[in-house]
Amino acid sequence: MSTLHALTTPTNNDSAHTLPTLRYKGGPLTHRPATIADLDQLSRLESECFPPEEAATRDQILYRIKTVPPELFITTWDNDKLVGFVNGTLTNSPDLTEESMSRHESKGSTVCIHSVSVAPDLRRQGIAYTMLLNYIIGIKNVHRMRPTYKRIVLLAHDNLIPLYTKAGFKVDGPSGVHHGPLPWIQCSMMLGDGGWAHDDE
Ligand SMILES: CC(C)(COP(=O)(O)OP(=O)(O)OC[C@H]1O[C@@H](n2cnc3c(N)ncnc32)[C@H](O)[C@@H]1OP(=O)(O)O)[C@@H](O)C(=O)NCCC(=O)NCCS
Repeated sequence: MSTLHALTTPTNNDSAHTLPTLRYKGGPLTHRPATIADLDQLSRLESECFPPEEAATRDQILYRIKTVPPELFITTWDNDKLVGFVNGTLTNSPDLTEESMSRHESKGSTVCIHSVSVAPDLRRQGIAYTMLLNYIIGIKNVHRMRPTYKRIVLLAHDNLIPLYTKAGFKVDGPSGVHHGPLPWIQCSMMLGDGGWAHDDE
């Protein structure tokens, strides 16, 4: 488990990386891998965060908890309240497709982030941004010990591109995935190619 306060201060002076600060005034937030005991809370939060046509089902969440390595499904807590989570699977597909996102390839070199979710009453306080940085650091730590992960990829709607570019992702362009009513844009980050979380490389 790590606390948000343990995150390193960014050293990248590029103004494009101006950082929203964590404005959350609750208790200290902690991050840890998801467990099966979290399933009810995770399932509830997922359905509060996504419309039915986009939300992962309870079975899909359970599959991810049981199948992916711990660094790919990270939950964030204020004491025993689930504040948010980031989860992903692995793929070898160069671009994300409905097919590649529907399963976890244990030897995949691309981390595909499926959900970045924050409790509705706690938004716009910097929590998602902080969770993303924590998640990237976790992936980078694994990459350092066992360089099997090459990049992180996600799909976003247009309005959230600033969140992901601030966190170090680059915009690849429109995705071929059609899931729900709005178009998706693919964003990616090569491990080790910059972004504030990678300043030590
Ligand atoms: C998207 C989501 C995770 C953002 O969580 P959050 O904790 O409110 O985000 P942050 O406070 O860390 O936002 C950091 C920056 O991202 C951008 N941002 C965040 N939410 C945004 C929104 N709804 N619209 C536009 N920009 C947004 C802003 O630049 C923000 O900085 P600012 O508040 O200083 O302007 C949250 O709204 C959520 O859970 N939504 C439902 C699930 C979802 O759509 N997830 C993303 C796709 S997987």
